[in-house]
Amino acid sequence: MIRINSLHKMFDEQPVLHGVDLEINEGETLVIIGRSGCGKSVLLKHMIGILRPDSGEVFIDGQNISRLKGNDFVRLRMKFGMLFQGAALFDSLNVYENVGFALIEHTNLKEAEIRERVRRALESVDLAHIEQKKPAELSGGMKKRVGLARAICNNPRIILYDEPTTGLDPIMADMINELIIRLHRQLRVTSVVVTHDMTSAYKVATRIAMLYEGKIVAQGTPDEIKNTKDPVVRQFITGAAHGPITDSGNNRREEYRNIGGEK
Ligand SMILES: Nc1ncnc2c1ncn2[C@@H]1O[C@H](COP(=O)(O)OP(=O)(O)OP(=O)(O)O)[C@@H](O)[C@H]1O
Ligand SMILES: [Mg+2]
Repeated sequence: MIRINSLHKMFDEQPVLHGVDLEINEGETLVIIGRSGCGKSVLLKHMIGILRPDSGEVFIDGQNISRLKGNDFVRLRMKFGMLFQGAALFDSLNVYENVGFALIEHTNLKEAEIRERVRRALESVDLAHIEQKKPAELSGGMKKRVGLARAICNNPRIILYDEPTTGLDPIMADMINELIIRLHRQLRVTSVVVTHDMTSAYKVATRIAMLYEGKIVAQGTPDEIKNTKDPVVRQFITGAAHGPITDSGNNRREEYRNIGGEK
């Protein structure tokens, strides 16, 4: 369903992804774990075509998406639902307009049909009757759930979730985990979930992959990851301050900046 070949991406001479290879099969729920700043959100944005690779390719359903333009690109985007890390709601639009955005802009559905789909999407994240509210009137957790309702509203075949449970209370976080599982089981949706939350990762994943130093360094079933002997993965999943993972990556980035400044 999704194939990524040797993906490289730099920002300001700072390498973020250098050689990501990853395949995601139809109907899988792949969870991507990795430290803050390692490039997880950047990787997700390449899958949906918001960012373009410096080199390497991203294929969706066998189609190389870096070459798509105009209507072909819109058609591709309609296959996806994406929950952005900060929810990324439009502040000037109300909840109905935010959740129904893709349907209002890119389909010929009647308003009554869109209203019904928006109502159902909001209901599935436990939010009813808030269609008229503006994002500024919502709590952080509510915004996140509205973002999730928007991601599922157009019945996408692929859903990308960037930190779906971060900032939610534990009960709501588990409700979101169950929603991810339900979409996977009932609709055979292909999902990619980025998270630091290992409880959520173990619960929703059919497979877990770890991003480290710009590459996928390990992948396996939740049980394989839980029992791995790889010291890098072990340090991350147990949350240990000491181990092979250091802040040298960040220091290296500082050096790049300093070199840039001196030129
Ligand atoms: N549009 C951009 N322009 C410049 N640099 C960027 C851009 N997007 C991301 N970066 C940089 O790329 C690196 C990876 O960012 P990314 O947001 O993917 O991290 P992450 O793994 O999602 O972290 P977190 O877990 O904190 O969300 C960071 O150093 C970030 O500053
Ligand atoms: Mg991120």
